[in-house]
Amino acid sequence: MKNQAQFHPLKYLSHLIKLIQDKGGKFYEQTVAVDVEDAHGAAVVVTRDGFRVKANYALACSHFPFYEGTGLYSTRMYASRSYVLAVKANKPYPGGMYLSVDKPEHSIRKATYNGEEVYLIGGEDHKTGQGKGMMEHFKGLKRFCDDLFTENEYEILHRWSAQDLITLDKIPYVGPITKKRQNVLIATGYRKWGMTNGTNAAKLMSDYVLGEMNPYQDVFSPSRFSPDPSLKKFFMENLDMAKHLIKGKMEVPRTKIEELDHDEGSIIRMDGERKGAYKDPDGQVHIVDTTCTHAGCEVNWNESERSWDCPCHGSRFSYTGEVLEGPAETPLQKHDFHMIDDYKFDDKRSGY
Ligand code: FES
Repeated sequence: MKNQAQFHPLKYLSHLIKLIQDKGGKFYEQTVAVDVEDAHGAAVVVTRDGFRVKANYALACSHFPFYEGTGLYSTRMYASRSYVLAVKANKPYPGGMYLSVDKPEHSIRKATYNGEEVYLIGGEDHKTGQGKGMMEHFKGLKRFCDDLFTENEYEILHRWSAQDLITLDKIPYVGPITKKRQNVLIATGYRKWGMTNGTNAAKLMSDYVLGEMNPYQDVFSPSRFSPDPSLKKFFMENLDMAKHLIKGKMEVPRTKIEELDHDEGSIIRMDGERKGAYKDPDGQVHIVDTTCTHAGCEVNWNESERSWDCPCHGSRFSYTGEVLEGPAETPLQKHDFHMIDDYKFDDKRSGY
């Protein structure tokens, strides 16, 4: 495609921040918003520490909205993870950015790293918490590199993964959270096109707040809901959730704690219950309850990020149970070492 633009996201954002600050805007980091109350038509944002901020409008632009109201957004979006390799190659980069049309999708772009040109090879997307072992996706990207370069022509410098939310009709939700709450706006479901969709959402939201007409309001309105194709997708998404809810509860884990290698995580059975265990590189075992605190599905181990990922709506938790990504707000329940000690020294109790 012609006229492509490639941004360095941090440079782009730091410039935006400066523009906002120059106009008197303020940023409060480490201040987690958890709720929006209604006070006689005003929006009152409540922080985790109990502070309240009153405003004419509240805008939730937090990836998964920190406040869903009655919008049921977790039933109308799903989280999709994808993977990236940073590759140093002997071949000069040919210019441009590329996205394949085949499945699994792959993308190629370049970046400058430590003064050197590197290829960023991305793709292998899948629903968060579902499918094969997560390291397999990096192997898939490596196979793609093997097709692009000859054997000794490239070196993988780094790898990482990330996720974004996808709506039922693949168009972001930007606008009032529900028809009844016109002063609480959300922007979410960018489908990994955050640089363009985020900028578009900013324009739509500022038009809402200033009371100006924007011809795209209806297209992006979170309240749009037409029977075709959204309704069908809605049922399919929620069927998928129900399937994973039941599957997780029925699964009988086979791994025992003592079989875990260092830096390995797995679902285990303890006292007849499903638990998640990770043995860190120092040999310390961290055990969590695997029931997601959002809506009760069972989380799965993500070996590439060392996290517990939920197959239903994409919440992610660290191996010690803290929330990494919503919609869940509460950590997984942790089990302390007494449980492991009891387990180790009492075979009858452990059931093995
Ligand atoms: S994210 Fe909804 S049940 Fe886990």
